[in-house]
Amino acid sequence: MGKRLPVSLMLLLLLATLLLVAVHAKVPAVIVFGDSSVDAGNNNFIPTIARSNFQPYGRDFTGGKATGRFSNGRIATDFISEAFGLRPTIPAYLDPAYNISDFAVGVTFASAGTGYDNATSDVLSVIPLWKELDYYKEYQTKLRSHLGQPQADQLLADALYMTSMGTNDFLENYYTNIPGGRSSQFPNVGDYQNFLAGIGEGFLRQLYGLGARKISVGGLPPMGCMPLERSANVVTGQRGCVESYNAVAVDFNGRMKKLTEKLNGELPGAEIVFSNPYFAMLGIIRKPSLYGISVTSTACCATGMFEMGYACARTSMFTCSNADEFVFWDAFHPTQKTNQIIANYVVEHVLKKFM
Ligand SMILES: *[C@@H]1O[C@H](CO)[C@@H](O)[C@H](O)[C@H]1NC(C)=O
Ligand SMILES: *[C@@H]1O[C@H](CO)[C@@H](O)[C@H](O)[C@H]1NC(C)=O
Repeated sequence: MGKRLPVSLMLLLLLATLLLVAVHAKVPAVIVFGDSSVDAGNNNFIPTIARSNFQPYGRDFTGGKATGRFSNGRIATDFISEAFGLRPTIPAYLDPAYNISDFAVGVTFASAGTGYDNATSDVLSVIPLWKELDYYKEYQTKLRSHLGQPQADQLLADALYMTSMGTNDFLENYYTNIPGGRSSQFPNVGDYQNFLAGIGEGFLRQLYGLGARKISVGGLPPMGCMPLERSANVVTGQRGCVESYNAVAVDFNGRMKKLTEKLNGELPGAEIVFSNPYFAMLGIIRKPSLYGISVTSTACCATGMFEMGYACARTSMFTCSNADEFVFWDAFHPTQKTNQIIANYVVEHVLKKFM
């Protein structure tokens, strides 16, 4: 038998190991807030027309099931959950087919059509952000009775929280120029951006106060390149990307990134990162052939110019046969293929530090 290590050295090694474990605690769950980019079917259980739980949605999902995801298959957060070694899909909190055992490894509170702004969720009567947070509080209570308080609190502290919203605040709210609406209240879009960022800040502080530490704040995509916006592009009339909307997305992403840096400086133990899909997605749109994609300006579903939700279903006889050749599935939402590319990019460039 070799010589035994001195006790002091053994303690030191033990301490070092514990510290490593503390810093690199594995992510036991992915908890999601946001809009249709990350809704897995919550809207199926509220009275709204912002739905996608019918064909052709979901036709490339397991079993061809239309779950309420706004895509032909999985969404980015599903791929991210899988990359963390968790389940390949994240279920919707309001879906009675799942229970707290499922939600203990991943859950989404997201609602298609929502945004930072209460006035945005009002447009299609969907779940406002403050209510998503209320559902999260209810989830905490259920998780504590399911796992016991200490285990639940540990899980809530180690989990990865992800947000993805903001597109609807601009495209479904601000730029629809409703009389007396946000565009008359904030004639300068920069002021509206500050208003949204302020709501985002309040939300992140509340989430931190409830125990979240690892938080990924999702940025805006190049929203001027969505087929619907291209079809309505009055500037070029050629179905080009609406550059003014893309500029707002870049500007807003800059503000949100700064916000994450500020909060990291102020909130002890917070690890808030900014996940920016903008350039990854623009890269696909500019050089689709690098990804085996051929169609960028129209969507797969129906005519690909205007349809989403029920309109997509109604005219689905025009729908393309291979969605993998398209960036967009409907006029507003990416295909599963695009979602996977964006998810891989975000995991590789931003979320790897949590693995
Ligand atoms: C959740 O549902 C599964 C079956 O779908 C069941 O085995 C499990 O016991 C349920 N858990 C709770 C906490 O109800
Ligand atoms: C949104 O609505 C909720 C509930 O009425 C309210 O508590 C919150 O202050 C509102 N947010 C803003 C920014 O007005």
